[in-house]
Amino acid sequence: MSIHSSTSVACANIAFIKYWGNRDHALRIPVNNSFSMNLAGLYTRTTVKVDGTLTADKLFINGKPANDAALARVHGILEYVRTIAPKKDFMCVESENNFPTGAGIASSAAAFAALALAASRAAGLQADEAALSRLARRGSGSASRSVPDGFVEWQAGTDDESSYAFSIAPAEHWPLADCVAIISDAHKKTTSTDGHALASTSPLQTARIADAPRRVEICRQAILTRDFEALASIAEEDSDLMHAVMMTSHPALFYWKPTTLRVMQSVRDWRKTGLPVFYTIDAGANVHVITLETEMKQVTEKLKTLAGVKDVLATTVGGAAYWVDEGAV
Ligand code: PMV
Repeated sequence: MSIHSSTSVACANIAFIKYWGNRDHALRIPVNNSFSMNLAGLYTRTTVKVDGTLTADKLFINGKPANDAALARVHGILEYVRTIAPKKDFMCVESENNFPTGAGIASSAAAFAALALAASRAAGLQADEAALSRLARRGSGSASRSVPDGFVEWQAGTDDESSYAFSIAPAEHWPLADCVAIISDAHKKTTSTDGHALASTSPLQTARIADAPRRVEICRQAILTRDFEALASIAEEDSDLMHAVMMTSHPALFYWKPTTLRVMQSVRDWRKTGLPVFYTIDAGANVHVITLETEMKQVTEKLKTLAGVKDVLATTVGGAAYWVDEGAV
């Protein structure tokens, strides 16, 4: 019996080695490999129904019809799925995030990973994990990393075939936690899609890319050997490098707020006193504070005492994206 409807769940992820800049914008082929861990507590659940009676694709996010920009991006993925899948009808996509909209938590990684699973299954496409990661990548680069389990490397590759993510260690490998300090809920002025296109306008991007293999190797070893100090140092350096590129792009992108810097400084001070913590920041003002699961409560409480921190979302390491009825990829 063919399946016309499919529901899937995928986690957001946080990168330790960041993706910033594409070698191919349309296909979202990045300029460097990146590393991330999935975030169990921040996820998207998506249902896709292939419906022969529809005259166009439909998209609902958290129960409301999505805006034109979001629909266009999802439509692009569904059009591609129809070119390679047996079923060619329009689809209705219903997507729900379990985290607050507008808290500055990027939802595109979880959303496009969940969409890749649900849309391909609903349209009758047989796709393995690498193929699903490639499909998710077309919607949002970082979404490629939300398909595999736990600690994930996205191999930049040079074309569609070679650019996909895979797990280097399962979620259970290392009980880390991410305490996200919510600083601003304002919508990003520059989306990451537009930001990637500006990366090459910074004179620092060339140096950032040239040094990426070194950082990637240090990160891989730190994860495999559970070396918190080494991961802390390379992840902060990598995040700072990406923001240096952002700040020196034309036009310049400044995502940090005064509270962002206050949290960064506090995290470094806490680490000096022996608390296992480090920061990493995406294209926004919020600070992801990585620690051990055993310290998650303490770090959350400490962050809440800092002026300007509106809230803290704390989560452990997440697994692979999965189909709700049928299990893992
Ligand atoms: O997947 P995108 O296009 O939203 O880009 C994500 C970029 C960063 O979050 C800043 C870094 C990363 O690797 O996740």
